[in-house]
Amino acid sequence: MGIVLDSSNKGANGSSTVDKKVKVVFVLGGPGSGKGTQCAKIVEHFGYTHLSAGDLLRAEIKSGSENGTMIQNMIKEGKIVPSEVTIALLQRAIHENKNDKFLIDGFPRNEENREAFEHVTGLLPEFVLFFDCSEEEMESRLLSRNQGREDDNIDTIRKRFNVYMESSLPVIEYYKSKGKVQRIDASKPVGEVFEEVKAVFAPSDAKIAV
Ligand code: ADP
Ligand code: C5P
Ligand code: MG
Repeated sequence: MGIVLDSSNKGANGSSTVDKKVKVVFVLGGPGSGKGTQCAKIVEHFGYTHLSAGDLLRAEIKSGSENGTMIQNMIKEGKIVPSEVTIALLQRAIHENKNDKFLIDGFPRNEENREAFEHVTGLLPEFVLFFDCSEEEMESRLLSRNQGREDDNIDTIRKRFNVYMESSLPVIEYYKSKGKVQRIDASKPVGEVFEEVKAVFAPSDAKIAV
């Protein structure tokens, strides 16, 4: 699939694999930090399209794809699916959507995700929204999420936390070093978290609202 980029969207290799000019915000944070919950609100208020990497992978399992069993096994173990699989799903979703601004939730999850996405799509995030939440709070949210997810059990949750600490936090640190991280205190109730989020997307509105 050809994605042609405006020069402002070109990555280090200058390649172009997205055929429109798009704006991407990465939404990162631990499992259960509230990424999906807040993305739904951002969509409503600011007109982004929400792409959750985890949701795309779960849809791929349901579609009966040849990668389905591999993805299912990785998710059950809390492991990160090879980048080429996840990136192909993200690229397709961007390509199929008319919108030009996307929230990419739960991606990049490790350095390999980050580097491969940059290389393949040439896209760099406008900024990174980082939902910072204590492990204790995230665990309690995941255990009461009740969406029938095979990975919301205590054994898999522990594995996901380890992967988050070892592989995902370094990605957030990388973007911090580039001055791209907008940190949000995600431990608070949903409405309070969204007030902080709103201030990132519409700083002037937030000032008026106070
Ligand atoms: P993530 O996408 O980061 O894994 P979710 O948005 O699915 O997280 O939220 C995990 C669970 O926690 C859901 O059941 C959701 O309703 C709940 N939740 C989300 N944000 C909050 C919050 N700020 N306070 C309390 N519960 C929350
Ligand atoms: O973000 P979410 O909690 O929905 O992700 C669920 C699982 O999907 C992760 O624990 C991981 O197994 C898989 N995943 C992945 N690569 C991503 C995002 C999610 O392998 N970039
Ligand atoms: Mg989610």
